[in-house]
Amino acid sequence: MSLSFEGRVVLVTGAGGGLGREYALAFGERGASVVVNDLGGDTKGGGKSSAAADKVVEEIRSKGGKAVANYDSVEDGDKVIQTALDTFGRIDIVINNAGILRDRSFPRTSDLDWDLIHRVHLRGSFMVTRAAWNHMKEQKFGRIILTSSAAGIYGNFGQANYSSAKLGMLGLSNTLAIEGRKYNIHSNTIAPIAGSRLTEEVMPPDLVASLKAEYVAPLVLWLCHQQCAESGGLFEVGAGWIGKLRWERSQGRIVRHKEQPMSPEAVRDKWDEICDFTDATHPNTTQGSLLSIVDVLSRVETEDDIAANPASSTSSGINPAEAVGFKLPPTTCSLSNTQVILYALGVGMSTKDPDHLRFLYEGHPDFSCLPSFGVVPSQAAMMGGGLASVPGLNIDFTQVLHGEQYLELYKPLPTSGSVRSEASIADVLDKGSGAVILLDVHTYSGKELLCYNQFSVFVVGAGGFGGKRSSEKAMAALPPPNRAPDAVMIDTTTRDQAALYRLSGDWNPLHIDPSFAAMGGFQAPILHGLCSFGFAARHVLKQFANNDPARFKAIKVRFSKPVTPGQSLQTEMWKEGNRIHMQCKVKETGAVVLSGAYVDLHGPPGSPAENLTKEAGLQSAVVFAEIGRRIQDMGSELVKKVDAVFGWEITRDGKTAAQWTIDLKNGSGSLHEGPHAGKADVTFTVSDEDFIEVVKGNLNPQKAFFAGKLKARGNIMLGQKLEVILKDHAKL
Ligand code: NAI
Repeated sequence: MSLSFEGRVVLVTGAGGGLGREYALAFGERGASVVVNDLGGDTKGGGKSSAAADKVVEEIRSKGGKAVANYDSVEDGDKVIQTALDTFGRIDIVINNAGILRDRSFPRTSDLDWDLIHRVHLRGSFMVTRAAWNHMKEQKFGRIILTSSAAGIYGNFGQANYSSAKLGMLGLSNTLAIEGRKYNIHSNTIAPIAGSRLTEEVMPPDLVASLKAEYVAPLVLWLCHQQCAESGGLFEVGAGWIGKLRWERSQGRIVRHKEQPMSPEAVRDKWDEICDFTDATHPNTTQGSLLSIVDVLSRVETEDDIAANPASSTSSGINPAEAVGFKLPPTTCSLSNTQVILYALGVGMSTKDPDHLRFLYEGHPDFSCLPSFGVVPSQAAMMGGGLASVPGLNIDFTQVLHGEQYLELYKPLPTSGSVRSEASIADVLDKGSGAVILLDVHTYSGKELLCYNQFSVFVVGAGGFGGKRSSEKAMAALPPPNRAPDAVMIDTTTRDQAALYRLSGDWNPLHIDPSFAAMGGFQAPILHGLCSFGFAARHVLKQFANNDPARFKAIKVRFSKPVTPGQSLQTEMWKEGNRIHMQCKVKETGAVVLSGAYVDLHGPPGSPAENLTKEAGLQSAVVFAEIGRRIQDMGSELVKKVDAVFGWEITRDGKTAAQWTIDLKNGSGSLHEGPHAGKADVTFTVSDEDFIEVVKGNLNPQKAFFAGKLKARGNIMLGQKLEVILKDHAKL
């Protein structure tokens, strides 16, 4: 289908000749109402005439198009836009094209040469675009073009004034693209090359004649069409060719050593490596730069990767085959009362609540560690710049964002002693715009598994490497039920909340240093996402588990917006059996800061499912206990969906060691140990170990069946329905 601009109002500045005229004609031909702006001066910014604009308006009208002339200078942006509003009632598209030249070698550039060029190109684009902006914002549609030049991108002899103004326009466009994103306002920059009165002085006549303006206009039209999603792009265009430009950055080199002054000699000695573009990256946002600086700080601190030249890696981009399964060096962490209490204070616990005392006072008879503390020992793997050592992950560390977090506890956390964490890359996903790295961390006390964390790390701009989009290993965020929350808890963070929370081991200056925060694009230091996570976790623990850490099983959150210390956190909770869905908002603004979140609790002590785990000995007993819990929570729903009785024979050393019946046919469902009184619809026989492998997702049930590891009697097809009780959770 051809691209139509019917109903759109387009302003083209400097449309009395050259490129602008061509754009105006092309838009007019495709149904747009066109404001043809031109001051009608000479190429150096002198003189004035209405003839140029009038002529183009005539041309458009003679072809049946709609057009009006405007003779104001682009410096009077309001007047130019007013013509569009007065004549056509709206403004959709602004092409900043007007331009003049006053070339001089740099020392001969006068104040006027400098000022005039900047006034027409850069300030003119600002004045016109600002006048149009709020109209575009209100109508939630806008397309803006800034006209730069190769002289701006690369520099050109005799054009200091022009090239600086032209590159300024690229900066303007890049920021407009960011500020316009929410409102469907797109801004792009072109660096055209075409024969015109501006170029006839510098190009031979043949070239002027053959580089037609009509070879540039189609790009401008496409970028301004509602179907085009491009924004913040820079394109060189001419002679029928179009290319896109982007920034490139070398891997770089850290030249500073811990506790040593940084010297110019060190810079000199590493110069070749600093400037080596092997495995270069292509940064495209400011936000990440702060994170790269923080990464450098921690790498200097740990002397990590300073000796190794990151640029020497031979691979470029992301190679999941190399990265997935990679184990990072284990980290250890010793716990003490101080740390446990400091963490509790860090997530807002206070002695003004008597029931908080068990987390704040080591002399309390039930002194315990808050369950969400489980993230603290595991984050060492992340903090030390550990991801940089993973093969096949050649990513731009300035672009890394902590996207989601899952934590599961296998027993209450100790308040003292040493724990060890082992981290590995569980999966790497290709989300198009970026990559998601799933980092699994298991934390042990001796041989005993204490907790499991999954960090979900988003790398902006690292997608498109041809990887899969989703992973069965990802612990998914879940939307809350569609009803008013069952409970709401509000807590105020203090002005010093982040200053306190960071003492638990996240030293990122983003959370305390105003200048670092400003570099990341924040007005003030922001609260740690994991601090809000701690607030929300303890809200659920208090509301639904009587502050008993033993009942806390797991938590999942997605970090969606930052919080400023001093703001109030409002946790909204929905109880669905033992799963508490939640979302956390900043009370003052209503912004959702933790989304898709939930906490899984164990049933109260003494509940039947709880007792089953005591049958121990077999690993599968733990899984059946969890299945029992699920049946308790949502049995009737499962009975409706499944309508079958499953028998299980769990073997050990070739002998039946346990029998279980999952009845999803009668009443609201049940689980009991032992065979079914009647006849099970299907009975599976499997060894304890293989059962666990299947549940963990390491062994495919079909393969297990064909390999003789899983035997089935009865209606085998019913096995598929078991998925509803085993799914979303490999680690039952
Ligand atoms: P052109 O001189 O044919 O067109 C520029 C138009 O802008 C003229 O009609 C002029 O009257 C008008 N204008 C100048 N000052 C104005 C003001 N203050 N208010 C309103 N209108 C004003 O030149 P051309 O080549 O078509 O250039 C268009 C744009 O493309 C310019 O911004 C130029 O810098 C840029 N450009 C052109 C290249 C080329 O190869 N033609 C190369 C790189 C950039």
